[in-house]
Amino acid sequence: MRVVGIGGSTRPGSSSEAAMRAVLAAAARRGAEVAAFTPAELPQRPYDPADLSDPAAEPFVAALRRADAVVVASPGYHGQLSGLVKNALDYVEEMREDEPPYLDGRIGAPVAVAFGWQAAVNTLSSLRQVLHALRAWPTPLGLAINAAEPGVLRDGQLADPGVLARIEQMAEQLLTGPRLRGTPIEGHRTSMKRSEA
Ligand SMILES: Cc1cc2nc3c(=O)[nH]c(=O)nc-3n(C[C@H](O)[C@H](O)[C@H](O)COP(=O)(O)O)c2cc1C
Repeated sequence: MRVVGIGGSTRPGSSSEAAMRAVLAAAARRGAEVAAFTPAELPQRPYDPADLSDPAAEPFVAALRRADAVVVASPGYHGQLSGLVKNALDYVEEMREDEPPYLDGRIGAPVAVAFGWQAAVNTLSSLRQVLHALRAWPTPLGLAINAAEPGVLRDGQLADPGVLARIEQMAEQLLTGPRLRGTPIEGHRTSMKRSEA
């Protein structure tokens, strides 16, 4: 299982980067091979299919092609995911003619960090919609983290036991999801039997 983390902000001590890295670490403890793409490794130039000269574009898209699952973490900027994270996700357009295309067949875990619940939840919802549009399978559990809540962060790291428990759950869903591919759904088989009877 290869898991690619995307996100964070350019702010030193970025909390969304810390959240993304925490999910990757939980996935690595379960045996996944992980790679993080923070703003330093993400394409900075606005996505332009006619100009892929950003030096980060090729390694970023190559890593996504090899990935089984992705973690996308964004700060809430004016109630939405940041332009930097959205621009990086726009580079997935380079995978439109892949087989399978875009992020098809991969699990996508959305993580949003903001300084209030409204932006955190809105941003989580937007991330889920973008993952869905890119044909990823969003994890049932998304993370909306309110960095303004006391005790959520300590020394730049996530410290709230509830948030840490959800990170473990998210890693579990990231890694078990792909294993379900091709597995018949129990309820579906039951209803087939019923209709055949
Ligand atoms: C440009 C900008 C816009 C922001 N807009 C919001 C907002 O609308 N609502 C909110 O709760 N926090 C907002 N914030 C605060 C960030 O979401 C919050 O500080 C977050 O933890 C930053 O993530 P980071 O630590 O990864 O940089 C904004 C911050 C910046 C820099």
